Amino acid sequence: MTSACCVQGTLQNDSPNGTETVIHGLDTYVASGDSSKGVIVIIPDVFGWLLVNTRLLADVYARKTGLSVYVPDFMSGDSFPVENMQVLSPVDGTVPTMTAKVKTLGKLGAWMFRHREAVSWKIINGFFEAIHKENTTRKVFVSGFCWGGRYACLLAQREKWFLSDGSYREGGLIDALFSAHPSLLAIPKEIELIAKPVSFAMAEEDERLPMKDVEKIIEILGKQKMLKSEVVTYDGAKHGFALRGNIEIQAQRENMENSQDQAVNWFKRIEIAISEVRTSLLQPTKLIRPKQYLPLFTADAARMVHADASNFSRGVSKAEAYAQVIEQASALFDGQRNWWVYFSIKVCNLANSASLIWHALHSMPEPSNHANWAGFYVLDPTTPKQLILGPFMGKVACQTIKFGRGVCGKAAETAETQVIEDVHSFPDHIACDGDSRSEIVVPIRVGGKVVAVIDVDSTVPKAFDEEDKKALESLAEILGTSCDW
Ligand code: SME
Repeated sequence: MTSACCVQGTLQNDSPNGTETVIHGLDTYVASGDSSKGVIVIIPDVFGWLLVNTRLLADVYARKTGLSVYVPDFMSGDSFPVENMQVLSPVDGTVPTMTAKVKTLGKLGAWMFRHREAVSWKIINGFFEAIHKENTTRKVFVSGFCWGGRYACLLAQREKWFLSDGSYREGGLIDALFSAHPSLLAIPKEIELIAKPVSFAMAEEDERLPMKDVEKIIEILGKQKMLKSEVVTYDGAKHGFALRGNIEIQAQRENMENSQDQAVNWFKRIEIAISEVRTSLLQPTKLIRPKQYLPLFTADAARMVHADASNFSRGVSKAEAYAQVIEQASALFDGQRNWWVYFSIKVCNLANSASLIWHALHSMPEPSNHANWAGFYVLDPTTPKQLILGPFMGKVACQTIKFGRGVCGKAAETAETQVIEDVHSFPDHIACDGDSRSEIVVPIRVGGKVVAVIDVDSTVPKAFDEEDKKALESLAEILGTSCDW
């Protein structure tokens, strides 16, 4: 279905500063920055890579983020001619004739068919695969508008992505996306499948995506607690406002500029969150009206330090403390998949998890606050069916445990959580610390196979119950999927 709002708008007058080149077989406008750190790829509206507004926006992104920005020609030299924008939005303000409107919409319908998903997806996906393979460690961000706004969402889908060499990458080929007034989105499915941090800029008066659909999007994203997302709506804005607004009109200029800042701040925050794990910078989904819209990358947020994640309020309930563990752990693992490297032990996610469990338990009421050891045993790479000590909080502990031995070995062998009310009555308990009286051991499974266990000890009997079991099993599940084992 075509609509005039897809091609209405105002052309800007400035001259873009970037260059044209060929990247992975596609003509591409490039606004230069530090491409070793990351790239932002713009998937444009129907006017494609040639639209001066899109190129000027690429220049703004590059200047404000320091990253390289690419605007590839995903339309094989067949972007919708910009003259059509003049037909539907004459610069002299006259109203286009019905005949002119109908003719332009007919052309747009034919264009949409030529650039249907079956054709365009291969080109877009192929480009992102090539970008990913060229450098698998740098960040790839995508910013999509109208027609391209939907493809930005499709690039972040939850399903496994098989690359042409047979390997796959969970959650798509990008690290985060910004999508302004996307058209043709299938709601709820294509929103539910988004698996990467997403920032939407929506127009209040959008024929292609009315507010009732925007509200649905907010509701869906709000349910996905593990996904960083935001939805910003712009009062009085119409479809296309983020790219084709009239900068001579103050309200339109402000909406355009604010949406530019929204994208720039989003990419900056995600980039920092990924590279420095400044998780506090990431907010849950919320609807922000432009009047309340503040720069999200604030000095205060930037000052928050990692140690704050381990601060639990005094008198916190067990449920609240575990909720904070799960929330902080999920945030800390965002973009961080390391728990170790073979023979050069790096222990990022497990070390932080041990700290979170320890501090959470010590903030809880009796008897949980008597924990004297919290940490991990992991598969020993040198010996089959053996665990080796991982990151922990507490006193020095035994280094290796055979599968089937002790509480940890039993959990590893059976792949079942062990809650031991009194370790003295567990015949094969391995007493690393004579003070320990009760213990819980939870296996971490990946693809049905135990890769590690969470182990917590307490100096009092019966310190662990069903609530501890459930919470630590949730954490084990998150660790199973959040780390490269
Ligand atoms: N008690 C454990 C050994 C590890 S320590 O508790 C840290 C067991 O029986 O497996």
